[in-house]
Parts: sequence; C-alpha cells; structure tokens
Amino acid sequence: MNKPMNIIKLSQVNSTNQYIKDHLIDLHDFDVVYTTKQTQGRGRRLHHWFSNEESLTFSLLLKLPIKKDIVQLMPFYSAFILREILKQYTEDIQIKWPNDILVQNKKLAGILIESVIQGQDIYIIIGIGININQNEFPANINDIAISLKHITKQTYQPFTLLKEIIRLFLDEFNGFISNPKTIMDYCQKNLAYKNQIVTFTNLDKSHIGRCKGINQLGHLIIDVDGQIQTFLNGDIEYIRPYKTKEL
Ligand code: BTN
Repeated sequence: MNKPMNIIKLSQVNSTNQYIKDHLIDLHDFDVVYTTKQTQGRGRRLHHWFSNEESLTFSLLLKLPIKKDIVQLMPFYSAFILREILKQYTEDIQIKWPNDILVQNKKLAGILIESVIQGQDIYIIIGIGININQNEFPANINDIAISLKHITKQTYQPFTLLKEIIRLFLDEFNGFISNPKTIMDYCQKNLAYKNQIVTFTNLDKSHIGRCKGINQLGHLIIDVDGQIQTFLNGDIEYIRPYKTKEL
C-alpha cells in the first residue's frame, strides 16, 4: 500500500491504545500513536504492561471496513510484521499463540488488539510493546522478559524501528487481506511450542495436551489424550520437562 505514514508523537500518555479510543473521531485510518512514556500500559486480560523509556510502545488504528474473519487474524498479521522486522536483529524468534513474540522462550514483544464498535462500524486498535534497550526488568517479570539489547548487546533507536514496522505493515496489508493463508502458514511455521506438551487454560479450565499448531482461522489445536480440540481464546504455557538431578 503506497500510503505515507502518519505518526503522532506524544511525550507522555496513559496508554497509546486508550489515547486512540479517546480520540477516535479525530484520528484516521492507519494513524499511529507513539510515545516514549506510557504510564498505564495494558496487556491482555487487563494485565499491566511494563514499559519505560527503553521500550517501543505504539498503537495503530484501522478504520476501514474489515471482514470479521480477517479481524480475527489481525494478531497473526501483526506478529508476522514484528517477526519480519525483528529477525534482522536476532534469530530464533517464535510466535506464541495468540500474540506474543518470544526469543529464548522469553517475551520480547506483546500485542494487544482491541475493537470499538460504533453503530455499523468496527474500529481496530493494534497496540504493540517491544522491549528494546532494557538492561534489566522489574523483579516480577525478570524471568519472563527479554530485550533486544539483552540478546545482541547493541542499543537501538526505537523510532527508527517503529518506522520500519509501520512501512512493512502498510506495504503488506493488501496482500494479507487478499490472501491471509500466506500469513497463517508463516505463523504456523514459526509457532512456539509446536508438538510440545503444554498447559492450556480457557474459561478457568486447564487442559494438558500436545500443541498441534493453529488452523486457518487462528484457533489453537491441542491434542488432549488423543482427542483433537480447537480453541478460539485462552492462554498456553509450555511445560518444561523435569530435569533429573545426578546423584
Ligand atoms: C500483552 O502482551 O499482553 C500485550 C501487551 C501490549 C502492550 C502495548 S504497549 C502499546 C499499547 N498500549 C497499551 O496500553 N498496550 C499496548
């Protein structure tokens, strides 16, 4: 899509997703809201999203009419774009269903997609947080988060990275809409925990099974005791094999 980028820079905001929600009328299709200081960043399931000036935090607004089945695939499109950009800097990036980016089994980036329905219209807000230049994280996430700097020992310019991400997002968008299968195949290929034993939690019920991948609708496929089950929502956790201690 040959569209110029429109990036709105804010010196501070509670949440870039929330800012878009609060200014929906004034904002346009593909507008991006970017800040270096997000004070109340949100993650999925109302979790807090930690970010500081070493992070990249931004949200993108889609106002154009999009079919419901494509809206469901938006986390995968976003994950594809992030992986394609980040793989210039690091190897072995995996997509954790439905919308995390992992390296070394730790979270490098998270995606929060929210929708707002107004009358007949549905607006999509794609919020992205990437750990860029952090040397350390707060103790509660230290074991599960990783930054680009941790991996490569280099320092990056978050705004340069943002422009790369948005350019690719715009360029690949029409291709995704007309042929989402290519994106879904890409995500399947780079999915974390494929063929591994995982715990899957959905509606407060946990299942242990083998992750078989995702289908073309973006649903997770789990083999639970020989029965194939598919899930639209939920959380997946890898079960680390027990380490035996040598005596
Ligand atoms: C998750 O991993 O649960 C999703 C995290 C998404 C965080 C980003 S940071 C920019 C945007 N604004 C927010 O409040 N959240 C998203």
